Amino acid sequence: MGDVDESFFQDAAHRPKLSTTEAENIPLIDLSPLLTNDPSDTSSAVTNLVAEIGDACKNWGFFQVINHGVPSACREKIERASREFFLQPTEEKRKVSRDENNPLGFYDTEHTKNVRDWKEVFDFVVENPTILPASHEPHDMELMELTNQWPDFPTNFGEACEEYARDVEKLSYKLLELIALSLGLSSKRLSGYFKDQTTFMRLNYYPLCPVRHLALGVGRHKDSLALTVLAQDDVGGLEVKRKTDGEWIQVKPTPDAYIVNVGDIIQPTPFSWSTGNEKISQVWSNDRYESVEHRVVASSKKERFSIPFFFGPSHYVMVEPLEELISEERPAKYKAYNWGKFNTTRNLSNFKKLNVENIQI
Ligand code: SIN
Ligand code: FE2
Repeated sequence: MGDVDESFFQDAAHRPKLSTTEAENIPLIDLSPLLTNDPSDTSSAVTNLVAEIGDACKNWGFFQVINHGVPSACREKIERASREFFLQPTEEKRKVSRDENNPLGFYDTEHTKNVRDWKEVFDFVVENPTILPASHEPHDMELMELTNQWPDFPTNFGEACEEYARDVEKLSYKLLELIALSLGLSSKRLSGYFKDQTTFMRLNYYPLCPVRHLALGVGRHKDSLALTVLAQDDVGGLEVKRKTDGEWIQVKPTPDAYIVNVGDIIQPTPFSWSTGNEKISQVWSNDRYESVEHRVVASSKKERFSIPFFFGPSHYVMVEPLEELISEERPAKYKAYNWGKFNTTRNLSNFKKLNVENIQI
């Protein structure tokens, strides 16, 4: 295939379909009742919203939201900054590359399940101090701070990222409350876990792909944190595995919407990821909700940009099925696990292998 590196090529079983049939879209949920009410309001508009969220989490693990309260000017600002940054020559972007001392910044060799993704990435954290073990021993919980490295160009890049993160965080807390209510919990039941959160953000850039029949923008994976809130542009390419039949369904872009999906929140067996253990599901909900596989198909015609916000709880949280969701008929399906330990172990194992076995989150 010309001079394209074969590390990008997916196994035949995982290559994208080139023609897609018109399929149903993931649920589209209008959050406007929250513009004037609290998620815990008992008005019928909010109660219906909670039910819609619950159905979407159960049936799809994915949904889109509109009227979400994030100002479009804030999103446009970060989208513009992202485009200006990525469309520079690679040498410029490499000035803020991640390295052994800092896992944050630019990189262009991301792998998912050992196959290289057709994309470039810029990572930053949302809340400082964010922490990793100071030593490179995975189980050593001595902590160090992570520092964002902002590029000089465009000059408002860091500001755009920080402002956007603050607004999407507010939305994420509201979503968390709606999800808690949909599980029959009190609205703030999950929010408390997010003090000193491990949330981070990513800017994705998918360049034009001459081998889109062989490669993927991002290979199939599930997200590992609690919740992902994603802004995709109008190009499209995100596909979600439909639970009913395992078909890949395109998430058609809806202007100004966010795509939300529940993550695993924890993996009881940290290294099972590299072998693609697909059994793990959403731990807090004791499997009522399920994190769902998704992937990104590349385009040969249009560059694509997206911005996921990965909402993660505090390092110190023990993640386990919530006691309200355990019963005799539905015993706990997962053992308690320290989120910080798991998260740092996984991050370090990815990082130390310099992405060779990088596992998508
Ligand atoms: C991802 O799931 O990692 C990326 C999603 C996207 O770019 O649409
Ligand atoms: Fe993802």
